[in-house]
Amino acid sequence: MDTKLVVGNIADVETECLIVIAVDHGEKQKNEPKLAIKDGAADKAASELISAGEVTGKQGETVMLHRPQGLKARRLLVAGAGKAKDFGHTAARKAAGAAVRFLKPKMIKSCAFALPELGSGVEDAMRAVVEGAFIANFDPDTYRSDRKDQQMKEITVIASNGSDQGKLQQNLEQARIIGESQNFTRELVNEPSNRLTPTIFAERARKMCESVGLKCEIMGPDKIKELKMGAFWSVAQGSDEEPRLIVMRHEPQGAPEKPVIGLIGKGITFDTGGISIKPADGMEKMKYDMAGGAAMIGAMRAIGLLKPKVKVISIVCATENMPSGKAQKPGDVQIAMSGKSIEIINTDAEGRLVLADGLHYARTLGCTHLIDAATLTGAVVVALGGVNAGVFANDEDIYQHFARGLQKSGEKFWRLPLDGEYFEQIRSNIADIMNTGGRYGGAITAAMFLKEFVGDTPWIHLDIAGTAWMDDNKGWMAKGPSGIAVRSLVEFVRTFDGTSR
Ligand code: BES
Ligand code: MN
Ligand code: ZN
Repeated sequence: MDTKLVVGNIADVETECLIVIAVDHGEKQKNEPKLAIKDGAADKAASELISAGEVTGKQGETVMLHRPQGLKARRLLVAGAGKAKDFGHTAARKAAGAAVRFLKPKMIKSCAFALPELGSGVEDAMRAVVEGAFIANFDPDTYRSDRKDQQMKEITVIASNGSDQGKLQQNLEQARIIGESQNFTRELVNEPSNRLTPTIFAERARKMCESVGLKCEIMGPDKIKELKMGAFWSVAQGSDEEPRLIVMRHEPQGAPEKPVIGLIGKGITFDTGGISIKPADGMEKMKYDMAGGAAMIGAMRAIGLLKPKVKVISIVCATENMPSGKAQKPGDVQIAMSGKSIEIINTDAEGRLVLADGLHYARTLGCTHLIDAATLTGAVVVALGGVNAGVFANDEDIYQHFARGLQKSGEKFWRLPLDGEYFEQIRSNIADIMNTGGRYGGAITAAMFLKEFVGDTPWIHLDIAGTAWMDDNKGWMAKGPSGIAVRSLVEFVRTFDGTSR
């Protein structure tokens, strides 16, 4: 999708459809202006819709008018963003997305957004509109033979006269990169496991790195064994598909030696559970068990293009988790790369095994700060559902930095605890730790397991099991892969100046 910026009068923009965002002031202030822009011509064109009560500003509402008077646009679409008092970039992002999803099936190929006025500034407004439009433009029906080409081809953003054109153009460009990168992650997550084996996954990462100028190294079984990644290998050994260890590097000239941010992703291209096999019902969804890895690859794409002056190394541990004559069994003891011994209680708790070695490897490569993302536990789905993802941190400063990023990205994460007491649940009789900690606090005991492999390095763990795949369509976004974490990871990296620890 192409993006254009126009600085000028809304009334003069020729477009298939002009989109303006409206807000809801509620019953008491019925007569307050509804449009989230100050523009006489747009107000006038929408005035009849508003006075007739057809525009309420309710979130998700879309009201369209043909041949709006006084505007050069062929249509006017008023997109509701919900309560005026809650209006911010998250609501604007959703309204922009809902507008695009409303227009797409009508085969409207281009549209223009009037940049809404946000308390937090034009940069936020630009990001909201552009990211929202890109996210809405993604459809998951890749393999449908009757797939319609209903994608939006071009969006224009209209800013009022007197705006700083150069700055806005830059904001627009950055938002496009982030929106496209989130969609790149969603494409990867959407692929079924027969079409995205660990080998193909790694190839996709390599191609992406080549196209944005990142270094990329891909290692197979021999190297994984040579590095003594006993935890990673224990999962990979059961599959006929070879595992891949993917290492992507952003090492820009002029970046300080430190910090080095490590982004580690769980890349299970299919999780059967292994010998502790999962029930058949719903198992098809386990193709998305590589969403953490895909989030890292998408984030690295954005980082490669945005070029922040900070070093970043991303590691994705890609493998299937299969039952077979070669598969590991409950009771087996594995030695991780760090030297820690692990008693395997349940072969379905495989994500923490591959991440244990991924995290340790990141430290040996010199990472000073770590973030991992993984569809790690069903327990986080029980705790937080599909609305918030889980976040854990072993250090307040790194958490605060991540939380500030959430303000900008608009993604929802909820912090869960990491008290030492939970460690008792994963203490083993035969080895240093067990790979499961019983029924209670499952998301936390999984995080406690990972904590054993990060030492004293500041670290954040994102459990995206409940949020990486959406079961229902939203007004602003199709159901299926969500691309969760990409925007927050990018925000974390681009605002990281190394003083945050
Ligand atoms: N990939 C799953 C977690 C998952 C569950 C992701 C639901 C997405 C949706 C993970 O590998 C797993 O199987 N976890 C087990 C751990 C248990 C055996 C301790 C779980 O959560 O049931
Ligand atoms: Mn599993
Ligand atoms: Zn898994």
